[in-house]
Amino acid sequence: TDRYAVIGNPIEHSKSPLIHTAFAQQTGESLTYERLLGKLGGFEADVRNFFATGGCGLNVTVPFKEQAWALSDERSLRAESAGAVNTLIQLEDGRIRGDNTDGAGLVRDLSVNHGYLLSGCRILLLGAGGASKGVVRPLLECGPEKLVIANRTAGKARQLADALGSLGPVEGIGLDELDGRQFDLIINGTAAGLTGEVPPLPDNLLAPGGWTYDMMYGSEPTAFVRWGQQHRATRALDGLGMLVEQAAESFFLWRGVRPETAEVMAQLRAM
Ligand code: ATR
Repeated sequence: TDRYAVIGNPIEHSKSPLIHTAFAQQTGESLTYERLLGKLGGFEADVRNFFATGGCGLNVTVPFKEQAWALSDERSLRAESAGAVNTLIQLEDGRIRGDNTDGAGLVRDLSVNHGYLLSGCRILLLGAGGASKGVVRPLLECGPEKLVIANRTAGKARQLADALGSLGPVEGIGLDELDGRQFDLIINGTAAGLTGEVPPLPDNLLAPGGWTYDMMYGSEPTAFVRWGQQHRATRALDGLGMLVEQAAESFFLWRGVRPETAEVMAQLRAM
């Protein structure tokens, strides 16, 4: 059977094996999907070894997404823009193709699963690290009125906006420049939630009827989901849908079959 895996460090908490195994069962695809603990100084060797011993595809997670980008022989446009790769595919000729399905997962969760219309809306993206980089191009491709990237370190947000400015109306600012602005959708891509924090945000930042989306998720509502609820978000979503949708997009790249995601989401939600 065809072998797939997710590689990261740490890796034991990854939900990807559960998700992809469920996809395989549902679609009748014959494959195995395992966890691989990547060596911190030996990621490239681990990847080459996996493919040399019959592996067909890899998902890549923290902290290896940039290294996966670097070792890819060719890359999709969205991976190129993200500067990071979460999906590796071995091509017929043995070369490795890198893609990034994170942004597509976010967009699909919002638009298909929740019926949110991204076109014409004012989007605020918090953070300018890896999580944010992965989603800027796919968000701009939805045709928002504007996309503002706000980061604690303003220069990083400006840099990211400048790099992708040809793709649409995007602006990079500091978190301290948010006063007086309003957005229809606020997406959290900062790592602040890891410590249960929310970046300092002005009270009227979310427009009436606006939505919030945290790219993180947990068994309890995340700090940013609670922020959304406290600021009258119509919907305050977490990143579980994005997690499952980015996996579905990777599965599609590998197998050419698009799995149903609702059932797997319900299963994860119940854990
Ligand atoms: P990742 O790849 O997970 O996004 P990263 O590249 O280290 O991780 O980026 C983390 C992001 O969260 C950055 O945008 C960071 O802001 P800085 O660029 O100013 O460091 C942001 N971040 C982390 N902790 C934060 C906090 N407590 N408040 C606000 N922003 C925070």
